[in-house]
Amino acid sequence: MTDVPAPGQDLLFPPPAEFAARANVDAGEYARAAADPEAFWAEKAARLQWDEPWHTVFDGSTMPTAQWFAGGRLNVAVNCVDRHVTAGRGDKVALHWEGEPGDSRTITYAELQEEVCRLANALEGLGVGHGDRVVLYLPVLPETIVATLACARIGAVVSLVFGGFSAEALRFRVADTGARVLVTTDGQFRRGSAVGVKAAADAAVEGLDHVEHVLVLRRTGDATPDVPWTPGRDVWWHDVVDTASSEHEAPSFDAENPLFIIYTSGTTGRPKGLVHTSGGYLTHASWTHWAVFDLKDDDVYWCQADLAWVTAHTYEMYGPLSNGATQVIYEGSPLTPHPGRHFEVIEKYGVTTYYTAPTLVRTFMKHGPELPARYDLSSLRLLGSVGEAINPEAWLWLHRNVGGGRCPIVDTWWQSETGAAVVAPLPGVTPLKPGSGTVPLPGLSATVVDDAGEEVAPGVQGVLVITKPWPGMARTVWGDHDRFVRSYWEPYAERGYYLAGDSATKDADGYVWIGGRIDDVLNVSGHRLSSIELESALVSHPRVAEAAVVGAPDDTTGQRIIAFVITRGRADADDPDDAGLTAALRAHVGERVGAIAKPRDVVVVPDLPKTRSGKIMRRLMADMTAGRSGGDVTSLQDETALAGVEQAWARYLATRP
Ligand code: PRX
Repeated sequence: MTDVPAPGQDLLFPPPAEFAARANVDAGEYARAAADPEAFWAEKAARLQWDEPWHTVFDGSTMPTAQWFAGGRLNVAVNCVDRHVTAGRGDKVALHWEGEPGDSRTITYAELQEEVCRLANALEGLGVGHGDRVVLYLPVLPETIVATLACARIGAVVSLVFGGFSAEALRFRVADTGARVLVTTDGQFRRGSAVGVKAAADAAVEGLDHVEHVLVLRRTGDATPDVPWTPGRDVWWHDVVDTASSEHEAPSFDAENPLFIIYTSGTTGRPKGLVHTSGGYLTHASWTHWAVFDLKDDDVYWCQADLAWVTAHTYEMYGPLSNGATQVIYEGSPLTPHPGRHFEVIEKYGVTTYYTAPTLVRTFMKHGPELPARYDLSSLRLLGSVGEAINPEAWLWLHRNVGGGRCPIVDTWWQSETGAAVVAPLPGVTPLKPGSGTVPLPGLSATVVDDAGEEVAPGVQGVLVITKPWPGMARTVWGDHDRFVRSYWEPYAERGYYLAGDSATKDADGYVWIGGRIDDVLNVSGHRLSSIELESALVSHPRVAEAAVVGAPDDTTGQRIIAFVITRGRADADDPDDAGLTAALRAHVGERVGAIAKPRDVVVVPDLPKTRSGKIMRRLMADMTAGRSGGDVTSLQDETALAGVEQAWARYLATRP
């Protein structure tokens, strides 16, 4: 473990006095939570509507599968929708939806309730019941939220798959969940053009007998004609949902009833389907949304993530809806049709709270401060960041040029596994340091330890662990509980710590500074990708014998994917220099995984550096691409392999287009 200077530590932004005076949460919350965490979480759970009260706040007897609020029963969809209507807030806007081509819709909580009930009835009509899985392959539409809530309402387990993922990536998730229904659209808008997606959905479910129906929502219509159709299996949304009753009696479910499965990359080729349950998750999501985003009744809140990412599950669906928030959701790419699109949307709806990602901030920075300056952003009062550590320059740029110097920035560290934020400031209380998520939230215990589990001294690098169970924690990996135990809980089993997989330091004030991942997980534009998953995709191409994938630093995307490949066979006679290989491999990975997984660079190498036991030493190649040298090479099987890669890399850099 080495000493690393933490950037930006000298900069401190105390909460603006005006903001602090109106803040939802006061400084005493940290001490109250520390004194009695269970009482603290029980108080937060009581913010929700329970059909039956719990008898035990926390039961750790089955750890690492904790039980929270055992005995309690609730309906998550009722908490997110009906409760607000019953309380007389049915006319409040739930969603301002902005479509990519410029179409828009505004939906109140009362309207949302009707839509959710209709779909709940329609899904039940298609045979979906408690415990069945439903996969959604949808863009950012109000119906995507309606479908997520309809599943919660009937006790079906939902899994959202990013619309940019390939048919193959979708197929893995449909098969792994054993889904009974897949919900998709005829097509999607991608950067200004309509593309059909139904054929990909068909390919994903082909031969999977457990898929009884594919429910298809019309989105692109005439722009994507000739929707392939399997009679009996395929059902148009407008045929079964629009005609269904808007009355639906919501049953209550156990607090530990599975709510959703979110797939995330781990350290093997198979993505992990993390299972989140109901009572504890919603308690964590709802309270942290209210506290970290300091939610006010008249706020217009916008989390810009795609609904399929975990960020959106917690802070664009379950969290804000359970709090009765008014939200903006936006279907399109941030740069379509012009780079000021997000700022235009902020101005149009008077957005008060904008939750974004460092990679997007860095993209905006390239356009200069003139870009945000063209819009009226005076409605903003709070900004948020998630997905990767935000570099202090980007933090300062966002603070100054988007937040007008007046908006606190909540940098929220969390993961698919944690369910909701763990290390994040309370914006009216916690002084901010650009680049740090600050300190663990009240009720959450995270720290930085060495290999033996001892807390490291300030400034010394270690790994981030969560030392006490928390309500939003994932309960298992779908279909592979051993993997859940092995990946997160075994490394510090004696202490009962959860291993997050990130390196980190704490400074003298106890502020947490996240470093890189300690495993073979890449973070490209805030998206988690596994080196091994990408390597599997590469070696499935006939021209690739072996592959190693590493992340190199990138000014915009945080990391960029570099693939080192050993080729097989001879190059084409008419393409002896393999000029087409890069394009072919990029396209191949795009098809196997999705466009976000395409390697930026493909470097042909004679051999790969490996340990004596045959493991690829990605770390040495990552160091090389980052311009670092002097890594530990003692476990290398053959040093000439590394030298060969270094030469190929130097040649590649010299000739790269
Ligand atoms: O490496 C950390 C990084 O993203 C990982 C979690 O990825 P995922 O499960 O896809 O969830 C992303 C959105 C919650 C973490 O292990 N990460 C996420 N947020 C931050 C971060 N790193 C530093 N600072 C953050 N605010």
